[in-house]
Amino acid sequence: MASLAYRDGSRQGAGASSDDDKPLPLDFTHHYSEITKRRNASTIKALYRFFQIPGILNIAGGLPNAQFFPYDTLEAQAAKPERWSPSSGSSNPSGANHITIPHDDSSQKDILQKIDLATALQYGMAQGYPPLLNWIRQFTREHLHPDVPYKGGPEVVLTCGSTDGFAKALNLLVTPWRDTDPIEERPGMLCENYVYTNIPNQATPLGVQMVPVKSDEDGMAVSGPGGLEDVLANWDTTKGKRPHIMYTVTLGHNPTGILLSVERKRAIYEVCSKYDVIIIEDEPYWYLQFPDAAKEEAQSRGLPLPPSPPNATTQEKSSGFPFLDSLVPSFTPLDRDGRVIRLDTFSKTVAPGCRLGWITAQPALIERLERITEATTQQPSGFVQALISKLLISPPSSPSPSSSTPSPFSLFSRPTPTPPVGWDASGFVTWLSGLRTSYQSRMTKMCHILDSHSHLVTTHATSTSTSTSPDTWSLIAKTPLYTFSWPRAGMFIWVRIHFHHHPLFPLFKSDLSTALMIWLTGPKYKVLVTTGAIFAADDTIRKKEAWEYFRLCFAAEEDRNVELAAERFGEGVRGFWEVRSPETVRKLLEEVKKNDERMIMMGQGEGMVNLAGFMGC
Ligand SMILES: Cc1ncc(COP(=O)(O)O)c(C=O)c1O
Repeated sequence: MASLAYRDGSRQGAGASSDDDKPLPLDFTHHYSEITKRRNASTIKALYRFFQIPGILNIAGGLPNAQFFPYDTLEAQAAKPERWSPSSGSSNPSGANHITIPHDDSSQKDILQKIDLATALQYGMAQGYPPLLNWIRQFTREHLHPDVPYKGGPEVVLTCGSTDGFAKALNLLVTPWRDTDPIEERPGMLCENYVYTNIPNQATPLGVQMVPVKSDEDGMAVSGPGGLEDVLANWDTTKGKRPHIMYTVTLGHNPTGILLSVERKRAIYEVCSKYDVIIIEDEPYWYLQFPDAAKEEAQSRGLPLPPSPPNATTQEKSSGFPFLDSLVPSFTPLDRDGRVIRLDTFSKTVAPGCRLGWITAQPALIERLERITEATTQQPSGFVQALISKLLISPPSSPSPSSSTPSPFSLFSRPTPTPPVGWDASGFVTWLSGLRTSYQSRMTKMCHILDSHSHLVTTHATSTSTSTSPDTWSLIAKTPLYTFSWPRAGMFIWVRIHFHHHPLFPLFKSDLSTALMIWLTGPKYKVLVTTGAIFAADDTIRKKEAWEYFRLCFAAEEDRNVELAAERFGEGVRGFWEVRSPETVRKLLEEVKKNDERMIMMGQGEGMVNLAGFMGC
């Protein structure tokens, strides 16, 4: 492995003296895929560390010459961290900085500080662009997971986003299985009842069997029939190998919006440890936690207020930021064995098109993931790595522009780099808390409106018993149209529609779900939701109940449309309940058959999962 000394003085995998009494992480080589076991380090990439030796003449690598890169500078106007107020979520658009990345910042000798196009656009280390890798590693180890229980703490490798991170985790741990192979060798992956669609899309073609664990409104169940312990203890080997991996989203689950408590996590971790399961934890929404959701939900529904949640953090060591300390942590602070692979992404904190993220895990697993990266993506795009580096990194002291040595490219590049304006860890955390407040306010708006439409209220006027009396009684009937929990985290509201109460249910059964979706997209309501069917972890769940659910995203629409979308949805469902003619429903279903694209969106056609994948989330 190319060895890097980091700014905190540590080296990869080396234990800091303060954690001498911690256990070493366990060895998981027995879980490696056949391909991973056979993977050697890239012989060419092994030379990269020598490139950094000052004055060395490099005629070894097949690198193009940086002089011929056509970009002289890369410039951007980028938000200041306070653009979204952490207290109100309101915007401050004037808060912007100008970022300039020069072609060649030859004045900067420290490779962890040098952000220029000559290095960022060149072939580089698989683990990541050194300045960005160093920043993310430090942020991860000191602020995000300051208290990992194994010696030396975790390492990181940069990825092209969490989708790529998951693909690499599969490459690490799964030997592809074909129908002709012995069934006892078929790999299995534990997951929640509902799963982000890209996960089965990636895993099932490798022969991986999705193994849903019964989940309740607090997340994956640990005990009881269908719970984690039950599934693993009573595994039937005639159906495949007992699962050795789990995929889970614990902080704002997609699609259900669930936040898994620390207590539940601890119990799940113990079972995974007992049955030797590696946990792949995908947390794109970790910072979008809504601690007031339970209270606001109760207030909106006139219910007794729930007890305040216990202080979220389990970590003895503070992250250094009250906002991060207030968040429910991931599995990593519980990970004494080193069996957690956590996937992070800039898709929701910066932008999905960045295609940039990172994996956090124990050093031996990161070393294998680095080998996989060398042979596959090599590294994320240099443009993106440079821009994100410039956004985040604030050097301790800014080099004076006048001290820059003119570079060979100074004829066609801006003569001096602009002073650095990076957010640094504190700015990034301010940015995240501003995003949390802004998304929380959208969630609250949408949930209030959904609550107000959730029942069909019918009044029947009836006369009193004496026919001569002018008095009438009103009989009020309240039929629940749908139910949902206010999401505790993430970007989604998971709504269960009570189709069983619809007058036409006996005739159409689950087809009513398809009809409602089309009904909502019609000219009167014009609102598009995602059917739960595409997220079902297996066919049993899809047929049994997934069609009852719709996923609503409060993040994507413009702010002014959030309430409008909720109104349209609520009114649309109510309008659908007033449909009494079977012919109307038949026509809606006919429309689906005629229109392939809509069918795909509704998870009815062959290509359903593909379009969901194409839509990205
Ligand atoms: C749970 C989950 N994982 C991963 C992703 C995709 O992440 P990335 O853009 O980093 O590949 C999404 C996107 O919606 C998601 O919901």
